[in-house]
Amino acid sequence: MPQPPQTPQTLPTPTNTLHQDDADYCWHPFTQAKTAKQALALVRGENEFLYDQNGNKYFDAVSSWWVNIHGHCNPHIAGAIAHQAHTMEHVMFAGITHPPAVELAKRLIAKAPKSMGKVFYSDNGSTAIEVALKMAFQYWNNKAEPRKGLIALRGGYHGDTFGAMSAGRSSGFYDPFTPWLFDVDFIDTGVCACTEDAALAQLQNLLDKAPGHYAAVILEPLVQGASGMIMMRPDHVSKIASTCRQAGMLVIYDEVMTGFGRTGTLFASEQLTEAGQPDMICISKGLTGGFMPMAATLATDAIYNAFWSDDVNKALLHGHSYTANPLGCAAALASLELFDDPRTWQQIQMLEDTHRKWLPTLACHPCLNNPRVQGTIAAFEFKSQNAAYGSSNSQWIREAFLEHGILVRPLGNTMYWIPPYCTSENTLNWAYEVLLKVLEDWKSKENSNNSEAKPINTELF
Ligand SMILES: Cc1ncc(COP(=O)(O)O)c(C=O)c1O
Repeated sequence: MPQPPQTPQTLPTPTNTLHQDDADYCWHPFTQAKTAKQALALVRGENEFLYDQNGNKYFDAVSSWWVNIHGHCNPHIAGAIAHQAHTMEHVMFAGITHPPAVELAKRLIAKAPKSMGKVFYSDNGSTAIEVALKMAFQYWNNKAEPRKGLIALRGGYHGDTFGAMSAGRSSGFYDPFTPWLFDVDFIDTGVCACTEDAALAQLQNLLDKAPGHYAAVILEPLVQGASGMIMMRPDHVSKIASTCRQAGMLVIYDEVMTGFGRTGTLFASEQLTEAGQPDMICISKGLTGGFMPMAATLATDAIYNAFWSDDVNKALLHGHSYTANPLGCAAALASLELFDDPRTWQQIQMLEDTHRKWLPTLACHPCLNNPRVQGTIAAFEFKSQNAAYGSSNSQWIREAFLEHGILVRPLGNTMYWIPPYCTSENTLNWAYEVLLKVLEDWKSKENSNNSEAKPINTELF
């Protein structure tokens, strides 16, 4: 018989407002709750816009942490999820398979760079990275040539699980966890032609010092997202990959952010040379069009074959409860269908053209530095006397845009647009007009800045 509780159970005090309940029950990501401003409460989305409960409209200029592809509540994707939810919502993927997972794997392999042969599903960008790292290390173990080393690019961000944090340690997000991160060697990113040679020399130096030590290299091809939308030339990325391959290493591309059209092609890898093609690609964010948390690690047949054995210990003993979730697969299939519509690619081209049209204006603006464009992504720095990453500037910029009805999430002083592809030309042009107004206020703020007590930054990333 169940025993009655020792002390009378008290029901939670009823609370009236969403914000009070939020403060009472929710713990937000990348946020110092004590000093954070009240969270913006949103209740509805449509196309490139989100709405609060009073009907105020906000342009989602960052595609909700870069996940949204075809707009909020896209009816084609929503319908596919609803249909799948009424057919089979979920089933485990060990010892079982189902049509959406198989169909999605087939389509991903058909659309990915030719080198890819198999799809391993997981839940989010970080898990896609963990899977790739585990595949890389176990690949060498299974071949009885253990290699322990990993090379990554300085400033790269790969997620918040421990392997991903180790690979992204130099992004500076992980100070409290450094004692538990494994060793990774970093080379400079090589952001312009004049620094590429030095970065390649650092790479060669590492390889010369420890032949046969490195299992893999991991990098975000063409654009390093969280460290400030840092852009690299395709040729340079290809050279890093081919140098590592010559040293026998595996090449892992983290396309969690760059995948699904963000850089102008379905995968950023498509813009690289043949020698620059990967052995593994990690995808998430845009995979489901921004509807469902899902990820995949794509690998070559050569990698898969290294796990093919009579010995269970040579299998990849890794999985998640929601691996290959049918709702996620249905969303991803529907999202991929939208890429078969030429209008999606026209929109992607229009977004890039619009960014490029504004480049000259931004380039000669006295308050901005280094405007740059790669596909649908545009980024630039707000000039400031207080440019540290954790400075309060990002918060100021965020609030300034919010007053105009635009949601942004700057990275320190780096401001960027990464809009859903359904964004209209008018909306994007209007966002640039707002930018010019915000810069006027920025100028006044910077001029009167030094004597003021600076607000504490409450949010990173
Ligand atoms: C390049 C890259 N890799 C990995 C991740 C981690 O993805 P998630 O937040 O889904 O774990 C992110 C997240 O922003 C990312 O930008």
